[in-house]
Parts: sequence; C-alpha cells; structure tokens
Amino acid sequence: MKILVATEKPFAKTAIAQINEIVQKAGAELVLLEKYENAEQLYSAVQDVDALIVRSDKVTREVVSHAKKLKIVVRAGAGFDNLDLQALTERGIVAMNTPGQNSNAVAELATGMMIFMARNAFQGGTGSELKGKTVGIQAYGNVGKLVARLAKAFNMKVYAFDPFVKAEDIEKDGVTPLNSLEELYQKSNFISLHIPANEQTKKSINYTLLSLMPQGAFLINTARKEIIDEQSLDKMFAKRADFKYATDIAPENLAELKEKYGNRIFATPKKMGAETAEANINAGLAAANQVINYLKEGVDKFRLN
Ligand code: 3PG
Repeated sequence: MKILVATEKPFAKTAIAQINEIVQKAGAELVLLEKYENAEQLYSAVQDVDALIVRSDKVTREVVSHAKKLKIVVRAGAGFDNLDLQALTERGIVAMNTPGQNSNAVAELATGMMIFMARNAFQGGTGSELKGKTVGIQAYGNVGKLVARLAKAFNMKVYAFDPFVKAEDIEKDGVTPLNSLEELYQKSNFISLHIPANEQTKKSINYTLLSLMPQGAFLINTARKEIIDEQSLDKMFAKRADFKYATDIAPENLAELKEKYGNRIFATPKKMGAETAEANINAGLAAANQVINYLKEGVDKFRLN
C-alpha cells in the first residue's frame, strides 16, 4: 500500500516524521513529493499509489487520469477548491478534507493582520487600536469562530453573518449574529473573510458591499483570492482613502495596487495561514489517519463526494 504526500509547499519536518510513523505502523509505504515544480512530476508520482495527501496542490482531471490505483485523496486542510471532485467521483475515488485542523493558525494570522494594518504596517505614523472597534466575521465556521474569540479578547464588538449557522449558536459565544451581509459590512470597521471559494462566492466581495463599510475600513482575507472582485477592490482603494486591505492570497494585480496604494495593501508572498508546525502536524496526521482508516476499515468521515 503506497501513500503519496504531494506538497508543493511542504509540511514541517516534524509533521512528516509523525505521518511516516502512522503510515509505517499500518504496514504501508510513504512516498514524498515535495516542492515540485510542474504538474508532470505529480503525474508520474501518482501513477502507482493507493492514496494521495495534498495541501493546496491541484488535483485536476489530468492528475486523476494518471492515478491508476488511487482510492482516496485527502486534502490536509479545510478548503477543497483544489480538488476536481467530479473527476474523482467518476473514478470512484473518495475525497476528504480535515476540517478544523489548521483553523487556529489561520485565525491567529487574521488577527495579526488586523493589528498590523491598524498600525500602518509597522512603518511608523499614528495607528489605531482594535479595542472598541467592530469586526464582522463573514462565515462562522471553524476559523471564523476562533477569530471571533480572539477579537473579543481585544475588547472588540464582534458581529457575524452565516446563513448556515443558527443565530443562537453564534449568540452563545457572545457574538451578535446579523441577518444580512449588507448589515455586516455597514456595522464593521474590520471584515474578516472565512467563506470558501465556490460558484456562489466567487467575486462576491464587490464594491457594493465594501462601500457600505464605515470610515476606517479594513478588509482581512485569509480565505481565497477568487472571492474578491478585483476591479471592485481597485475602485474601493481609489474612492476611499481610509480603506486598507491585508490578504494571505495576493490578488492578480498586486504590483499595480502596491504601486498605487502603497502600505494600504499587504499580501503575504505565499499563503501562510496554515504555515505553522502545529497546523502541519494537526492536519497532516489527521490526513494520514483518515487514509489508513479508510483503506483498512472503510471509515469515511469527512468524505466530500
Ligand atoms: C486551507 O484551506 O486549509 C488553508 O487555506 C491552508 O492551505 P495550505 O495547506 O495550502 O496552507
């Protein structure tokens, strides 16, 4: 039984060592493909493996077509927009994610970005504090919930909008649920995005919404770049001198935006929300255990297809 861990952005060494222990204990073999530079390397690596563990690596129809023995793919992380679920399902290959395992790392980054932007990207000048400000959490899932908890520790007023979560479940965390996105944007100095990228959400963060934010508006994106309408972003920067944006996933037009708006925009060079040893260990080990439990006992918790 061969289990391939294919990560363009590798897991921490400690995580790999522990994944290897799980795999060996199950009598299987771990194959590593790290920091690969092109899809061809992945095509050849998947050919004879039974299971595949990835991070944001794209598991396309083409990848699936090369994987002759593949039975399961686990995305070690939350977002699974990198998996071609249809292609996997057509081949009878199970797909899973590991929800919640890297959430704390992402929530800490989102909170750090709020402080960083409120303090003028640590470049000097008078900044502002989080205390007493309002933050709107867009989607109250694993990450959103943790951002809310951290924001409350900073004495922020926390709002959330999530049509899939009951209002009472939000309220019991001391967070105010709102009935519309418009209201969330109207009430929030900071908006922290935690929605997935899918057909409903792509380009949904647009000027109509952003322009509702009060003066001193900060948008924090640790979700996906596809959810942002980039033309709207440019328009918001141009029309609202108070607007600042921090993102863990650089927009296509980052160089142009930086040139025009300087420190009002910040983007990490590479997605680093889940780049902590702890998150790598949590998500990597969960993925390895899910693979083994599925291959040995057919356990399919967190199955996506
Ligand atoms: C996720 O969806 O879990 C995060 O975006 C982390 O992605 P990564 O594993 O590529 O860092």
